[in-house]
Amino acid sequence: MGASRGLGKAIAAALIAEGAEVAICARNAERIAAVANQLGAEGIVCDLSVDGAASRVVAEASARLGGLDILVVNTGGPPAATFDSITDAGWRQAFEGLWMSAVGAIRAALPGMRAQQHGRIIVVTSIAAKEPVPNLMLSNSLRAGLHGLVNALSKEVASDQITVNALMPGYQLTERLIELNVDETKASTTIPAGRIGTPEDFAAFAAFLASRQANYVTGQAICVDGGVLQSI
Ligand SMILES: NC(=O)c1ccc[n+]([C@@H]2O[C@H](COP(=O)([O-])OP(=O)(O)OC[C@H]3O[C@@H](n4cnc5c(N)ncnc54)[C@H](OP(=O)(O)O)[C@@H]3O)[C@@H](O)[C@H]2O)c1
Repeated sequence: MGASRGLGKAIAAALIAEGAEVAICARNAERIAAVANQLGAEGIVCDLSVDGAASRVVAEASARLGGLDILVVNTGGPPAATFDSITDAGWRQAFEGLWMSAVGAIRAALPGMRAQQHGRIIVVTSIAAKEPVPNLMLSNSLRAGLHGLVNALSKEVASDQITVNALMPGYQLTERLIELNVDETKASTTIPAGRIGTPEDFAAFAAFLASRQANYVTGQAICVDGGVLQSI
């Protein structure tokens, strides 16, 4: 999901490199068609913040691919804001985009995964879910909640051989970061690894979580951040 650029696109490319057949989605029809063509994936146009869109996209992907083994839940980040500046409408919009799209996609994917007794669900969140980042109130709070969902759900579906994990990006150099005018040199000084990560760094771990080898890893929130998070 959310894969016409950035982390989603890199994950799609990593999965294809491992031999997976992949469907990708995003809002911009032209861009998703071009990227689908470039990667050799199925492209689906959708706005995940619209009620019911996430479940429709999963159903369409399953139909086009002939089933679904791996679901990567990912979408655009909510706007930066502090508590005082967020209206009720702003909270609801972020909830639809970040939370209900995850719920809808997972709900649509589970019956098939249960029937085949195999599945991988990976939810892209953020290090902000674990250590709040100033001015990212929506991301800090809603994504922390998603980690609760991931862990609780993992217990409910583990006996169906379905794993559910959250993957937290730190600072990965995607178009989003470029648009946010993040100063790469300055940001690198705050990262123990001494550099901003690449989308490929992140995608490699997602591909591992999607693999057979990761079949006993579930309910976790794992960061790919070059050592940024301080907590144990
Ligand atoms: N990059 C980082 O360092 C970093 C760090 C922490 C967290 N994150 C989080 O990780 C996620 C991916 O980040 P990114 O850097 O790859 O973002 P990005 O470069 O902005 O890419 C987002 C992708 O999702 C699609 N998308 C956005 N809103 C959508 C919607 N409502 N419905 C369907 N598709 C949608 C976009 O295409 P369209 O615009 O065409 O829809 C695009 O393909 C975001 O939630 C971000 O907040 C990223």
